[in-house]
Amino acid sequence: MPAAIDAQCVCKTYPGGGRGLADFSLSVGEGEAFGFLGPNGAGKTTFIKILLGLSRADAGTVRVLGRDPGETAVRARIGYLPEVAQYYEFLSARELLAFYGRLSGLAARQVRERTGPLLELVGLSEAADRPLATFSKGMLQRAGLAQALLHEPDLLIFDEPATGLDPLARLQIRDIILRQRQAGRTVFFSSHELSEVEMVCDRVGIVKDGVLKWCGPTREVAGDGERNLERLFLEVIGAGPGALTAPESLRL
Ligand SMILES: Nc1ncnc2c1ncn2[C@@H]1O[C@H](COP(=O)(O)OP(=O)(O)OP(=O)(O)O)[C@@H](O)[C@H]1O
Ligand SMILES: [Mg+2]
Repeated sequence: MPAAIDAQCVCKTYPGGGRGLADFSLSVGEGEAFGFLGPNGAGKTTFIKILLGLSRADAGTVRVLGRDPGETAVRARIGYLPEVAQYYEFLSARELLAFYGRLSGLAARQVRERTGPLLELVGLSEAADRPLATFSKGMLQRAGLAQALLHEPDLLIFDEPATGLDPLARLQIRDIILRQRQAGRTVFFSSHELSEVEMVCDRVGIVKDGVLKWCGPTREVAGDGERNLERLFLEVIGAGPGALTAPESLRL
């Protein structure tokens, strides 16, 4: 399988000494769905920015779709959902897609044809003509997702796509990722939660302190990889043992 993403011995240190990545190597095959897991500050966004050519590695080699990251021809084949969306707030969702469609070199007719189904897919049909300034966080995330899919890119890079989304929208994201993978596209996305990636990914990588701690097939993450995951313990104060046998009473 040719590599959509190939990084070898990448190092990145920020001014002031903050470690972004240390001797980081990772390959993702074309058509693969890859989940990039790690806690806050692990280096996920650092790696994604290097893949996009928005940031440079201090050392090592990085190839994206067989080319140097940041080349215009490569960027045109990537759909990127940033961690923090910053769009022109005076645009509506429909206008946002028209704007990004032009930036991607799509014909106006293509953009028009794709806009309706895409807004439907991300659940924004009703709000299509409202300015983004009136959107909630989750709605902005949905608009960003539509933007990333608009030019039907070969490689999708999503930086924490589920952030700010309600449980139903998280399921929809999962479905979108599955459909993209079925269409033969490569999907690389970051997350804090194993549950978000395990249903849709072929492989998972776990990064911490800029180091790839574990990488392997998703079915193995519950064994080997789990040792590298942070565990979270919840103490529920004031709930009797009955609460554990009646989970519906704890539903939001
Ligand atoms: N612009 C920057 N200047 C200095 N240090 C930075 C910068 N960006 C990131 N870092 C540092 O690099 C490390 C990795 O950060 P990064 O944003 O890649 O983590 P992350 O895995 O995406 O975390 P999160 O889950 O919180 O988004 C952190 O220690 C962070 O403080
Ligand atoms: Mg991040």
